[in-house]
Amino acid sequence: MSNYILPIILGYLFGSIPFSFLSAKYLGKIDIRNYGSGNSGATNVLRTLGKKAGIVAFIGDFLKGFIVVAVVNSTLGLDIAVVSGAFTVIGHCYPVFLKFKGGKGVATAGGTIFALYPLVGFILLISLVIIVMISRMVSLGSISVAFLLPIISLLLNTDKSFLIYSIIMGLFVIYKHKANISRLLKGTESKLGSTTVKKN
Ligand code: G3P
Repeated sequence: MSNYILPIILGYLFGSIPFSFLSAKYLGKIDIRNYGSGNSGATNVLRTLGKKAGIVAFIGDFLKGFIVVAVVNSTLGLDIAVVSGAFTVIGHCYPVFLKFKGGKGVATAGGTIFALYPLVGFILLISLVIIVMISRMVSLGSISVAFLLPIISLLLNTDKSFLIYSIIMGLFVIYKHKANISRLLKGTESKLGSTTVKKN
């Protein structure tokens, strides 16, 4: 049990580094939480500031999940790696450095999945790209792949601890999109390319 403590703490602290917030702050001189959806995530940065800041935000948020889980998996094994991955995503969504108001976990969870089961990651990425290209709504793609994650893990017969991780992470990411789900149902969800406005 004591083997879990350091990976959990490191995962949470790494996850708390708010790359989307930092990208918007240094490349766009804005607080991304005051714009668009108010989410401190790569999608909101992309819509608000364009490709350069959006790609920097995505790479940072993706890599923190990838690196933590790859290192823990290679040193302490898969069971501890999935727990550290979960805490990296929790750190991203509830960052200690931003008063616990962070993103929705998609890029960071993606990094953890690619580090452990790249095939699952590629299938989800291709699904996400297709859904976003058709709908222009990243949230719809994110919710869809969160739903697909445990199904694909089951079909590919992944390790039991990864399957449990997939179920929990899928449900968590869908929960984090509850405001998006409400907007999708009302037909008011933001699309890529739409104008982003500063919140009051
Ligand atoms: O990964 C977050 C994305 O699915 C939704 O972001 O800014 O449209 O709420 P946003």
